[in-house]
This record gives sequence, C-alpha cells and structure tokens, in this order.
Amino acid sequence: MAVEPIMNTYNRLSVAFDHGEGAWLYDTDGNRYLDALTGIAVCGLGHAHPAVTHAIQQQAARLTHTSNLYTIPLQQQLAERLTAVSGMDSVFFANSGAESNEAAIKLARRYGHTRGIDSPTIIVMDNSFHGRTMATLSATGNRAVQAGFEPLVSGFVRAPFDDVAAVRQIAANNSNVVAILVEPIQGEGGVHIPAPDYLNQLREICDANEWLLMLDEVQTGNGRTGEYFCYQHNNILPDVVTTAKGLGNGMPIGACLARGIAAEILIPGTHGSTYGGNPICCAAALAVVDTIEKEGLCQRAAELGERIAEGFRQQLVGAAYIKEVRNKGLMIAIELAETGAELAVLAKVKGVLLNVTGGGKVIRLLPPLILTDADADLLVNTVASLIKIYAADEGVDNT
Ligand SMILES: Cc1ncc(COP(=O)(O)O)c(C=O)c1O
Repeated sequence: MAVEPIMNTYNRLSVAFDHGEGAWLYDTDGNRYLDALTGIAVCGLGHAHPAVTHAIQQQAARLTHTSNLYTIPLQQQLAERLTAVSGMDSVFFANSGAESNEAAIKLARRYGHTRGIDSPTIIVMDNSFHGRTMATLSATGNRAVQAGFEPLVSGFVRAPFDDVAAVRQIAANNSNVVAILVEPIQGEGGVHIPAPDYLNQLREICDANEWLLMLDEVQTGNGRTGEYFCYQHNNILPDVVTTAKGLGNGMPIGACLARGIAAEILIPGTHGSTYGGNPICCAAALAVVDTIEKEGLCQRAAELGERIAEGFRQQLVGAAYIKEVRNKGLMIAIELAETGAELAVLAKVKGVLLNVTGGGKVIRLLPPLILTDADADLLVNTVASLIKIYAADEGVDNT
C-alpha cells in the first residue's frame, strides 16, 4: 500500500473546510458547521475576525519576518500589553504551546542551577498535558503520549492533580524541587477544574520553598475561562505563565511570561527561536488582545459559559448517561457515564464541531468568545438532543 504524503499522526474526520465566518465554518461542499471546538481553543475570536484579518493583511504587505537579532517594535508592543494584562514583567515569544512550556522548563532548570541545585526537578501532575516535544511530553501525565519515545527527559516528579497534600509531601522529601508546572484547569485530560483554592495553596507552598509557580495557560488563557488568565480568578500571581492557542487566533504564536527573579533567568545565548515573536504573528496577537479588551470578551466568556452550562444542566442532568456538566467560562465539559467517542462524528453530521476527550467520556466544548446567544442556544439544543438520541440507541436511558 502506498504511503500517504502526509504522515499518519492524526485520525481526521472526513471534512475539509473552505472558509469561516465568526462561529461558523463552511466545508468544501457548502455545508455549514457551528464551531464549538475553535481549532482546540485557538480561534477565540471566531473565524476571519475583521480586526485580526486586517492586522495580518496590513502586516503581510509591510514585513512578515526579520530576526530576533534586531528590534521588533510589534513584539515590544505585544510584550507591554501582555505584561500589563498578566502582572508579569517580561516575555519570551515562541511559536506554540509546547515551545512556550519548553522555555518555562529551561527557565526553571536554570533557576535551580543559580540556587546551587545540580539536578533541578519540576513537580508535574497526573493526567496533565503540556505538549509533544521531548521535554513537554515527559512532563505530560499521560502514558499514551509518552509510550514509544523513551528515554524520557528526567527531572520531573509527579503528583495527583488537585492534591495539595501530595505536593506538601514532595516538599518534605525532595530538596531538588525548583518549580511546579500545572494547568489551572486540565484541558486535554478532560476539563478537570480543581478546588477553588488549589492555585492559592500551590502559591503558598512555592513561596515557602522558594519554588517557581509555573502555570500552563496554553488552553485556559486569552479570556477563555472568563478572566484573561485563569489564575486571575484566584487573585494570585504565578512566577511563570505560558500561553499560546487563543493568543494568535490561528497565527502560530506562544509566550512564556515571567515575573521577579524568574524574569531575569534567561539571558542572551540561553534560549531563542528564529520565528518567535515575528512581526506578522505579533500584529495578529495585538489585534486579539485589543479586541478581547475592547469588546469585553472575558466577561462575555463568563456569561456565555453560564448560559451554555446551565442549558445543558437543565436538559441533561439527572439522566443515567450523564455523570456531570462542568465549566469555567467557555471551557465546558459534559462527562458521560459510558464512553461516547463516536459523538464527535455524529455531532459533525448534525452541523456541530466538538471533541471528545478524557478517555472518550468527556464531550469538550470550546466555542468562540464571540458566540451570539442564539448560537449558544442552538449549540445546547443540538448537542443535548444528540446525546439523548445516542444514549437511547445505546440502551442507556433512565428506566
Ligand atoms: C495545556 C496545554 N499545554 C500545551 C499544549 C501544547 O500546545 P501546542 O500544540 O501549541 O504545542 C496544549 C495543547 O493542547 C495544551 O492544552
């Protein structure tokens, strides 16, 4: 059998999109789909947002790339906006979430060495996801992501997610720890939302031990959870925060932001990226940050999240096939009692794009922050009725 020209790294659904507008995608046959996945939390402003399109077009006509060997004014402007919105002091620009986390991991290791720790170790969580590069897959708490790629990168110890006592126990026994790397909400792992004071407690432990609190906000950042960054619900500041996905609304850009001592660890020659923070990606990201602020999209994400989650609760909670409906802003999960991986395909047939994660049991919805109320209601009604029909066909009903 002939080898396909694209390496077989994805199981793809049989649909190709031609264009998009707002929350809707149009396939090559002219069918339209309500996009409740947004390229996995990327197109928070929807498709072809005029401000982002304009920024990309204008910048493409002027200058797409120079080099980090020169000053890049748009990168400086974006860094100023991001540090202001995050409370951080400085930014390293990368091209993806994994690369932003690589920067954070390198930063933590170098921080450890400056403290005289020869084998700096980072606490990471079970069930986490931090990316597909060697260091980030080693940090990831999912054997399926790691299997076949051993030897893994060393220097990580693992704790269960949302378990402060486990982290305290590591603190008491491991003097090599220099940092904690954690998602404020586990996305790929199945939209797991920890106890409301989890991050506050981790902050306290980090302070007591001189560890860096490093938050992976690749998925939760850029307004998705109802604040620009998810940690802002907790009124704390991390030492390092990484983001990507929604930052460029589809243009490949990531950022590793740092504060205080952590902001001074990486110096010339210690890290870099040819494309990181190039003018065209920065122009797009500046338009994203501006639009989120001008259009009050953090607040809107919080409202929409409540509307959608409440809609699902009303229609689904109590049914035997539903374990839980949970959300923080527009990170929404419907956890099924049994696996239902086929629901992504069935939803596509009904004109809704969503994703099933968490071992096939969690329907994950990551709709755009610009969704209208009418489209939010359409999403709830379509997905809820699909789940009911699916459960009845599978013989899992309430009787
Ligand atoms: C929390 C988190 N970190 C890191 C990544 C990796 O990002 P990327 O695919 O841009 O490398 C993802 C992607 O899903 C993510 O959800």
